Amino acid sequence: MDADSTLSNLLNEDRRFAPSDAFAAAANVGADVYDVSDRLAFWDQQARRLQWRQDWSEVLDWSKAPFASWFVGGRLNVTESCLDRHVAAGNGNRAALIFEGEPGDSSTITYAELLAEVSRAAHAITELGVKTGDRVAIYMPLIPEAVVAMLACARVGAVHSVVFGGFSAEALRSRIEDAGAVMVITADGGYRRGSAFPLKHAVDEAVEDSPTVRNVVVVRRTGQDVAWSERDVWWHDVVDRQAPTHVCEAFDSEHPLFILYTSGTTGKPKGIKHTCGGYLTQAAYTHWAVFDLKPETDVYWCTADIGWVTGHSYVVYGPLANGATQVIYEGTPDTPHQGRWWEIVAKHKVSILYTAPTAIRTFMKWGDHIPAEHDLSSLRVLGSVGEPINPEAWMWYREHIGGDRCPVVDTWWQTETGAIMISPLPGVTHAKPGSAMSPLPGIGATVVDDHGEPVGRGHGGYLVLTEPWPSMLRGIWGDDQRYVDTYWSRWPGRYFAGDGAKYDEDGAIWLLGRVDDVMNVSGHRISTTEVESALVAHPAVAEAAVVGANDDVTGQAIVAFVILRQGHQEDENIVERLRAHVAHEIGAIARPKRVLIVTELPKTRSGKIMRRLLRDVAENRGLGDVTTLADPAVMRLISEGLSAGTAEDE
Ligand code: WTA
Repeated sequence: MDADSTLSNLLNEDRRFAPSDAFAAAANVGADVYDVSDRLAFWDQQARRLQWRQDWSEVLDWSKAPFASWFVGGRLNVTESCLDRHVAAGNGNRAALIFEGEPGDSSTITYAELLAEVSRAAHAITELGVKTGDRVAIYMPLIPEAVVAMLACARVGAVHSVVFGGFSAEALRSRIEDAGAVMVITADGGYRRGSAFPLKHAVDEAVEDSPTVRNVVVVRRTGQDVAWSERDVWWHDVVDRQAPTHVCEAFDSEHPLFILYTSGTTGKPKGIKHTCGGYLTQAAYTHWAVFDLKPETDVYWCTADIGWVTGHSYVVYGPLANGATQVIYEGTPDTPHQGRWWEIVAKHKVSILYTAPTAIRTFMKWGDHIPAEHDLSSLRVLGSVGEPINPEAWMWYREHIGGDRCPVVDTWWQTETGAIMISPLPGVTHAKPGSAMSPLPGIGATVVDDHGEPVGRGHGGYLVLTEPWPSMLRGIWGDDQRYVDTYWSRWPGRYFAGDGAKYDEDGAIWLLGRVDDVMNVSGHRISTTEVESALVAHPAVAEAAVVGANDDVTGQAIVAFVILRQGHQEDENIVERLRAHVAHEIGAIARPKRVLIVTELPKTRSGKIMRRLLRDVAENRGLGDVTTLADPAVMRLISEGLSAGTAEDE
């Protein structure tokens, strides 16, 4: 890459939204929280929100950097912080999980009931031979038993490895193998998009020749037929008969809590390792501070699946550590109708909603009238995570979901960081649409150039984390060297996040997408996100994905794949108008060379657009590996549309 040039970001955003006086006055944290002079003292204080059996002697041992130990010598059982202490404090009757199944079944599980069920499940897996330190794979729909399974592992000190239920048998097999799992907890199936999908059969395939898996424990969710073998055990047979109380052991603060696989730049997924004390400290603190959680009155809903880190930190560990009442929903947002989420918000009076930009843009596409049909007045805080949120999507979220009154927190973090790192605080920050604003208290982050030198305001570069943080990954499972190489080798002493970012003139941080998503057009670096935001700001556009395709003249050329909003399909000049619109919004340098109108975009099952595949299409290459796509047929449709030449503008 061109060493001295900086990322171009020509998009200007000067809208700001301050919290109302009433919100600020009642907020959990005020502006003074940023006066952290001693980071370690700050985290020492936050760790005391948890229940520990034994105090620590040192907050951080960084002498073996980049391998950290937090709360050295401290001992705890994370499930005591998440369950037992709430019951002991007299909150056993508070709802912990309000479950909405896709077919319409619904149930509420109190903290006392959840503790009893986790206790039974802990006994059950112990009876099946699971020991402290063993790995257990969890491959389940988003049903209460999935949360119970994770907590049961944590309770006995086993390391869970949740594999998203949408992954293939092969993906599951490789993860089971890499972790050396001794057990898989699954379900017969789950409900999605109006029908029952199978899970158990993929597990059968994945464990067929496994030398390590001894048992597969199966929750009955759908009642569909499943093949059965010697190693299979029904959850209800082994869990229901156990005692509802369980005396648990305390583990070292650095005892492994879970592994979660995430994709890197190479094909082999990385098993990101997290441990107990530091992870739970930061998950709990950030959940309380960033969402302004009031456990007595809020109803919180994070729409992530437990297969992703967001489901770990902001469905399971953070909210339960804080004694929150939360909704979990099994299915898709359009089943049985496109207002399903808003119906759930109204039904349970959800007050805090945490979701992803891809969902928000989908709702924009479906139309403003859908949320408008539901009573969303219970909402008071909105969160976003997973990718940069386009300012227009942010504005739509604020207006059409948040009734123009709810603060929106755009939270930047990663599987590797374990918890939120950069985000507005809803009672403090004057948030700008599309910006994650500033590092949370106790967190060190900055933007550097190719030489690792911090860039000033108004400049762009790479996002790095400058200080160790409690919920940082402790390594890659079985591959310490890859951990050092991937994250800590580019600039000594700094964690390289892999994201481009810039400071605006006010010092707010804007995430610009993965650095491999940054284009270089005629020597200017332009973020794909920036062009996408400009496109999405056009009234005809529902969703856009932009890639840089190799170009003889300009280095890279901007190619945009665009989904139009309903009612705009017939417009003949739309391609030319969109090109002009981007040129107008950002500058002529950003005018897409080609705009392709498509009906779908290739997305991973977690909703991230697979730009690599779009780049293949834009550069007229054959289709690469499409196995991680949610819908592999999408790519065929896009390439057919292309070769038919209908949408090309040259
Ligand atoms: C991206 C999800 C911009 C980023 C918690 C990061 C974001 C990657 C944001 C991690 C955000 C996540 N703004 N980009 N608010 N949140 N990202 O591991 O590229 O699934 O590196 O963790 O998502 O994705 P992961």
